Amino acid sequence: MNLVYLDYAATTPVAAEVAQVMAQHLTLEGNFANPASRSHRFGWQAEEAVESARIQVAKLIGASNREIVWTSGATESNNLAIKGVLEGFDTGHVITSSIEHKAILDTCAYMESAYQGRFEVTYLEPNDEGLITPEQVEQALRSDTRLVSLMLVNNEIGNITDIKAISKVLAGHDALLHCDAAQGTGKLAIDVVELGVDLMSICAHKMYGPKGIGALYVRKAAEVKVYQQIHGGGHERGMRSGTLATHQIVGFSKAAELVMANLEGEIQHNCKLRDRLWQGLEGLGGVARNSHAIQCSPNHLNVSFAGVDGEILLASLAQLAVSSGSACNSASVAPSYVLKALGLADELAHAGIRFSVGRYTTESDIEFALSEIERVLTALR
Ligand SMILES: Cc1ncc(COP(=O)(O)O)c(C=O)c1O
Repeated sequence: MNLVYLDYAATTPVAAEVAQVMAQHLTLEGNFANPASRSHRFGWQAEEAVESARIQVAKLIGASNREIVWTSGATESNNLAIKGVLEGFDTGHVITSSIEHKAILDTCAYMESAYQGRFEVTYLEPNDEGLITPEQVEQALRSDTRLVSLMLVNNEIGNITDIKAISKVLAGHDALLHCDAAQGTGKLAIDVVELGVDLMSICAHKMYGPKGIGALYVRKAAEVKVYQQIHGGGHERGMRSGTLATHQIVGFSKAAELVMANLEGEIQHNCKLRDRLWQGLEGLGGVARNSHAIQCSPNHLNVSFAGVDGEILLASLAQLAVSSGSACNSASVAPSYVLKALGLADELAHAGIRFSVGRYTTESDIEFALSEIERVLTALR
């Protein structure tokens, strides 16, 4: 049976080159030791691998290696950023949006509830175009705002937040700017200095690296203070304890190297396939584009099909791996909270489907997907 994977926003396969490097850091013959072992050559070699990976991953986002803290992924990075910053204050205010990933929303909700009202969170709603604007941030800003946390690329719809413009709004204010860039890393050119962020969450598994490894960029400046949330051993300059997973880290690094070698080519590849997909879908009629037409990640396309039940449609597209809402919510049948925030009625929010293409998607994959969708829609409608 022909199966086509169009769920690169949920995760990507590990690139063969990445898997190869990882395998070299596991067994006795390889570079397997604990990078924190200071008393022997095995440990020093592992440390060397981890530190050169730090330089490579830092380069991917325009950071310095001293600004990279290894974590288990973007969920942990988001937790560390929000909890780690707020721990430095007795009280305070946070600005985020209602269309963030659950790793932000749940962490913010926790900070609001667990500290008896010491922290208050404003959830900005997207405008008519599905975007969070600098003006909204400016209006929500208070003298006690400690942190603004907004995503670079929305995981469901792919819309891009103008983080650079938002950082300008924050100039002269003490609030720190955190950006969840899990969906943007490896898909867009990212430079933390140009964006003006203080903290940024990234992960490897959306860019052909392994699952279970990520990083938090922490700008090196006295005013950017992050308190550790995982204690024990004082690794990562006291910001995140735990033995470093050398094989995951070198995998992340190799993935970053591959992305940097051909980012422009990948962007063009993704755009071309995504645009062909949209052109084909539009031709079927009764299809609304939920993703922004321009300010959108090159590999995302979120659409709603009128006149069909979303769950039935998804189940009928058995030969296509696509997603309704974000993968993290795929166990739930509630309409997508992101599409609801965009103003879609329950029925259309239920019928939203996220297609996401990637490095290994081919033109024939897209043509096959289009013919499958046409066949299924005709039958269901
Ligand atoms: C925007 C966004 N943030 C955070 C995460 C969580 O990342 P991880 O799977 O590395 O914990 C994801 C993954 O779906 C995401 O898309």
